[in-house]
Parts: sequence; C-alpha cells; structure tokens
Amino acid sequence: MTAGNILVVDDDQNLLELLKMRLESAEYEVVTAGGEAEALGAVKKQGPDLAILDLKLGDGDGIALMQEIHSLIPAIPILILTAHGSIENAVEAMKKGAYSYLTKPFEPQDLLFQIEKALENRRLTSEIVRLKGLLAERYDFANIVARSGKMHGVLEVVSRIANTESTVYVHGESGTGKELIAKAIHLASDRKNKPFVAINCAALPEALLESQLFGHERGAFTGAVKSTKGLFTQAHLGTIFLDEIGDMPLPIQAKLLRVLQERQFYPLGGEKPVEVDVRVIVATQKDLAEQVKQGLFREDLFYRIHVIPIHLPPLRERKEDILPLVEHFLKKFNQQMKKGVKGLTPGAMQRLMLHEWPGNVRELENVIEYAVAMTQQEFITEDFVLQTKGPEKAESLQPFKEAKDAFEEKYLRNLLEICQGNVSQAAKMAGKYRADFYELVKKHSLNLADFKKSG
Ligand SMILES: Nc1ncnc2c1ncn2[C@@H]1O[C@H](COP(=O)(O)OP(=O)(O)OP(=O)(O)O)[C@@H](O)[C@H]1O
Ligand SMILES: [Mg+2]
Repeated sequence: MTAGNILVVDDDQNLLELLKMRLESAEYEVVTAGGEAEALGAVKKQGPDLAILDLKLGDGDGIALMQEIHSLIPAIPILILTAHGSIENAVEAMKKGAYSYLTKPFEPQDLLFQIEKALENRRLTSEIVRLKGLLAERYDFANIVARSGKMHGVLEVVSRIANTESTVYVHGESGTGKELIAKAIHLASDRKNKPFVAINCAALPEALLESQLFGHERGAFTGAVKSTKGLFTQAHLGTIFLDEIGDMPLPIQAKLLRVLQERQFYPLGGEKPVEVDVRVIVATQKDLAEQVKQGLFREDLFYRIHVIPIHLPPLRERKEDILPLVEHFLKKFNQQMKKGVKGLTPGAMQRLMLHEWPGNVRELENVIEYAVAMTQQEFITEDFVLQTKGPEKAESLQPFKEAKDAFEEKYLRNLLEICQGNVSQAAKMAGKYRADFYELVKKHSLNLADFKKSG
C-alpha cells in the first residue's frame, strides 16, 4: 500500500525528476507527464488520487488541462504550481476548481503538507458520498412503511448494521415483517448482488431440513441418487435467512453452531468439509431465551446468533403505522386489481384503529386486499372491513341460546351415531330419562331411522 497515487505534470524535466524523487521518498506512487496529452493518458490509465499541475505548460494552458482532468474524474484534487508573481492566475485556477496552489520555488514540506490535506479532504468527501448512498438506500426501503418511532429505530439499526458480518436475530410476532426486514438488510449490504436464500426451519422434518441446509453426497441415505448442494452453499457470498429457528431440531442446531464458529461444514455422507462465506439472519416468533431454559434450544447457539437483536413490535403497539400502511396497501392492490379506490370512510378507518391486530401487518394487508376486491365505490365503507371475519369471532358473537342449541344437536347426533338410533341406550349413556331424551330428539327433528345401521 502506498500513501496515494500522484500525477505530476510539468514541462521542466528537471523539476519533474526532483518532485518524483521527493514524493516517492514520502511513500507516494508517482506518475509524471511532460505535456497535456501524456497527462490525460495517465489520468485515464491510472486514475490518480491527486494531480500537481504547472500552470504554464509548453504546449498549452494548465487551467484548461485541469478542467479536462476534472471532466474525466471530478473528484481528483489538483494542486497548481505557479511562477513567482503570477498570483492572479493562481486565483483564477482556484475559482475553476483547483484544490490549492504553490508558488515556485516552494519548500518541500509545504508541498507534502498540501498533498496530505488534499488527500484527507478527498477521503472525507468519499465518506460523505458513501453515507449519502446509505441514506438513499434507506429511502430505497421504499416498500417498508415506518412512521412510528419504534419502526424508525428498527430501520436505523438496519442501515447501521447492514454492512457488517454479524449475525442478526429478528424477533417478532407473526406477520410483523420479519422476512421483509431480513431482505432489507441483505439489500442494504455489499452482498446485495449475491443470493438471498430463505428457509423455514419449522416446515420440514429433521432429515430433510438437514439435507436442505447442508446438502448431501450421492448415496448418503436411501433415495439420495445424486449429490445435492445445500442452501448454505447456494448462499455463498450472500445471505441465508433461517426462519422459525426456534423449531430447528437439536442435532441440526449442533451443526449450525459449527458453521457459525468455523465457517465450514460437512454435507450428509460427505468427507470433505465445505467452506462458505455466508451472512446469517435468523428469525423467531418464540421467546428463545425461554426455549433455552426448557432445554429445547442450545444455549451456546443462542448466544452465537443473538448478536444483533432486532425486535419488531406488534402493530397494536405502533398504531401510527396503520394509516400509512393502509395507503401503502391501497396503492399496491389498486395497481394489482386495476382499481381506483381512494381511501376509507372515517367509520371504516375507526374500525381499523380499534382492532387489536393479532395477525399484525399481514392481517392488515389481507383486510385491505379483501376490501379493494369487494368494493365498488371510491371509498371503502365499514361493511368491507373486519366484518365477521374468522370463525372465533362468529362464535363469540352468537347468542347463548343459539350456541346451546347448536351444541345440543351435535351432541345428540354423535350419541345416536354411536348407539345406532337406539334411544334407550342413548338416554342411558347421556344420564337422561328416556322420555326426556326423546323430547330432545323431537326438538331437533332428528330422524332415528337415519342412525340405524343399514345393511
Ligand atoms: N413495515 C411494513 N411496511 C410494508 N409492508 C410490510 C411491513 N411489515 C410487513 N409488511 C408486509 O406484511 C406481510 C408480512 O410480512 P413478513 O412476511 O415479513 O412477516 P413475518 O414476520 O415474516 O411473518 P410470519 O411470522 O408470519 O412469517 C408481507 O407482505 C410484508 O410485505
Ligand atoms: Mg416470515
């Protein structure tokens, strides 16, 4: 590593040699050019970190050359060398974008000082560009709605840790956006052009999960007719998202621990370790600390993955997000269904605000999808939101008498099924007098013949 790459342009060959020597002894890498054409060639080829130009060049004008260099690479700081007594020219050069100037003859320390300052300034500028990029990235989280302070906090952490290698632990109830956040982290990182691979650890039986994650060699188990690469290998240089990690069986937890510690693993039936460079993000709805206490989750693995915890608060704890989320989903489903729904009536909106949202953002998304599909008006009325949705709701709203009658009928049918329509036997089993039991059968208009064993 050198301190930087410097282009020096001067038509005085002696001065060029002298500068080159001095700068090289200060650990800079130096390219020299005696004229304009040579200088521009060097800029294109080397992309120097800084240029030093003599203002009066034999074959042209230093200011014009400076501008041409800047049109190629705008960020190059340029130091101007001027002859004694031509300060106006130096000022002119500064106005046109020179970083600074030195009057010949100059002290070597002055030159080195100016160079260091210019390079430092350039580093700062590029850091600002990088930070601005990060901010832009944040707005690139355009599909993530975050009005509440709590969600701002989440996005703040996301943009800060995206580019680290640390394992991220996303915790939140169902439908709070865990997968969305995992993807945002991947997209905001330098790994964004590499694969993002997701797997739900709760969805597969142990053996299958293991071979999905780590792959297997041919013949590793019955049915393994050819070797398969696992998801860890597929995610190489990218990100792997392990959803519902709390449901990962203990033997696989042990294997995962090794991957995290050693960045390598053995495929099923394989003898050679596979090395991978993978960023790991895990998600869980369960309280893993509690799982650890119950012996369902390895404590050492818990500490390995619990590096950067991100908690996604339930929607009922951030109701400020409801309105912007509604707008976000309206736009989405208007587009998808080619509709022009403008919004919700105040009554419908109030209903959304009062709801507890056990299914969080996903539930809200479904509610809006349903309403947009159903409505034929510009504004969604309350009839289309959260009406008799879900069986628990319907049941809890049923009047007592209806619920009791429904239960009675179901009970009678079951019993008569078992007793094959024999009322005496059924009454005995129910602990009722035969006459009373018969009354019940009549009340529900049940036909005893239907329960007699046929054939
Ligand atoms: N802040 C948000 N802004 C916009 N959309 C969101 C937001 N949070 C969640 N969503 C949307 O809600 C749905 C559910 O999100 P996601 O699948 O990420 O949740 P989850 O926590 O992984 O759910 P589950 O626990 O059920 O797997 C997705 O369609 C997602 O795009
Ligand atoms: Mg999910």
